[in-house]
Amino acid sequence: MCGIVGYVGQQSALDVVMAGLGRLEYRGYDSAGVALVVDGKLATEKRAGKLANLQAALAEHPLGASGTGIGHTRWATHGAPNDRNAHPHVDCTRSVAVIHNGIIENFAALRAELEGRGHELVSDTDTETVAHLLEEEYPRSGNDLAEAMRRVSRRLDGAFTLLATHVDAPDVVVGARRNSPLVVGLGQGENFLASDVAAFIEHTRDALELGQDQVVELRSDSVVVTGFDGSPAEVREFHVDWDVSAAEKGGYDYFMLKEIAEQPAAIADTLLGRLESDGRLRLDEMRLSDDELREIDKIIIVACGTAFHAGLIAKYAIEHWTRIPCEVELSSEFRYRDPVLTRTTLVVAITQSGETMDTLMALRHAREQRARVLAICNTNGSTIPRESDAVLYTHAGPEVAVASTKGFLTQIVACYLVALYLGQIRGTKFGDEITSVVRDLRDMPDKVASVLETMEPVRALARELRDATSVLFIGRHVGYPIALEGALKLKELAYMHAEGFAAGELKHGPIALIEDGVPVFAVVPAAKGRSVLHDKLVSNLQEIRARGARTVVIAEEGDTAVEPYADQVIWIPSAPSLLQPLLSAIPLQVFACEMASARGHDVDQPRNLAKSVTVE
Ligand code: M6R
Repeated sequence: MCGIVGYVGQQSALDVVMAGLGRLEYRGYDSAGVALVVDGKLATEKRAGKLANLQAALAEHPLGASGTGIGHTRWATHGAPNDRNAHPHVDCTRSVAVIHNGIIENFAALRAELEGRGHELVSDTDTETVAHLLEEEYPRSGNDLAEAMRRVSRRLDGAFTLLATHVDAPDVVVGARRNSPLVVGLGQGENFLASDVAAFIEHTRDALELGQDQVVELRSDSVVVTGFDGSPAEVREFHVDWDVSAAEKGGYDYFMLKEIAEQPAAIADTLLGRLESDGRLRLDEMRLSDDELREIDKIIIVACGTAFHAGLIAKYAIEHWTRIPCEVELSSEFRYRDPVLTRTTLVVAITQSGETMDTLMALRHAREQRARVLAICNTNGSTIPRESDAVLYTHAGPEVAVASTKGFLTQIVACYLVALYLGQIRGTKFGDEITSVVRDLRDMPDKVASVLETMEPVRALARELRDATSVLFIGRHVGYPIALEGALKLKELAYMHAEGFAAGELKHGPIALIEDGVPVFAVVPAAKGRSVLHDKLVSNLQEIRARGARTVVIAEEGDTAVEPYADQVIWIPSAPSLLQPLLSAIPLQVFACEMASARGHDVDQPRNLAKSVTVE
């Protein structure tokens, strides 16, 4: 949450920072602001609302030229999303400007202390305390902004990425990082700081990943990283394997549409290079040895939102293929129930961004209890993979739309690869069985592409149902998490009541919601004869239809048995049951996207949300 950008170099810092903020706006869009040092003075502008408001303000009041600048796009935590609380925040003397991502938990005590010493704080934010603390520490640090930042950082509790610029050091931006993302972009005669590489990808694909509790001093020709105690710090250099076109809409109206369309390639890329010619799987990012993995006797998946739904689906494959008991837990609940964890528990943290604070805290708790942690993540250089014992990257490319789509499908694929790998080394799956599943997985990109070609009736349905007040989703087995995911997509994008149920649960209460015309999407497991659950779901369809539901049935091509109970059928290609979610999810993504657009909502940036949830 919150996107931050810093730049030092020969280009116009304002242009670089504003372009970077444009790419980070998905992280938060409650307000935006920038600070430059121009002619020995701070030049700042900030505005509530989307970046466009800041752009308009800058057009009216230009800030002047500078090669050093910082910028922020906000997802509000402390203080209403208005101009006053927008970042940057400055000290009493307007010498230092600060932007921040995260939450400073002890800010109230710090604020009281600062006010007691005569500082005037004008916003309701936790961030502003940092500007005033820097004001005090800067002279005490021998006018060394990096040292002042280290001293201040040591006093802060919570999660923070901070960037600061000072009028006395017009060619420096200083950053600090604890529990929130911050990466360095390495240019030629220029350097960048940002929450995410997307902010500087048009300038450089070479980056440095900062570690926990580190301060970075950025100049045009140097990057110096130290720990909060001032000791030299180790950093990891990496090269970003996608380019600027991946972070642009490429002719689509929304990022979400582009990302839905990219799903065949995302799945193919996630599978690429994982299978040896002898049928053995290669997961070379695994830093856990096969012996350690053979000892595993319990798997717990932790994740949030859509990633949690991927985990719910993965559980079916993991238990089926490995015979290891698997639990799936919301990250935000996990550590508060005192889970039973041992050295032989494998905790799998699924996260697109790699920065979700609830998941980060869950994995830290797991590691404290000596469990091993495997991250499934889409973002190189992010915190969760770095803190895990092993990582398997999904290769979905950058996901910009707040609603996760290609991230979700590739998470399922990655979980399946882990399950197959565990099955392989533990002997619960033979090589030929693995080859056969991987062959089925390799067929999925084409099948996903063919589903994408038949989505016009789904879009038409969304437009027709745009005034519906509630939509329900039902499924069984892996179709149940898909029902949950369909409902989540609709809630977050269309702001309407939507709920997903296990179809067998309807009769235990939710069926009371059914009345004339209520739309119900039903995900039918495999075609008749291939799954015992098929007929059970068809019975559930009959029960709700008898009570007036308008049924929209997602079924395999040729499954004519569902037709009598469907007001509309959305056909998907036949696939093994465990792989069906990769197909059945798509109509629900498309439906939610079109519904949001039909209702006049911002598809890529739904209200109250942010892409990367870096607060608990
Ligand atoms: O980055 P993560 O995968 O950890 O994010 C988890 C959730 O915040 C995320 O999936 C969220 O639910 C999406 N907005 C759903 O579309």
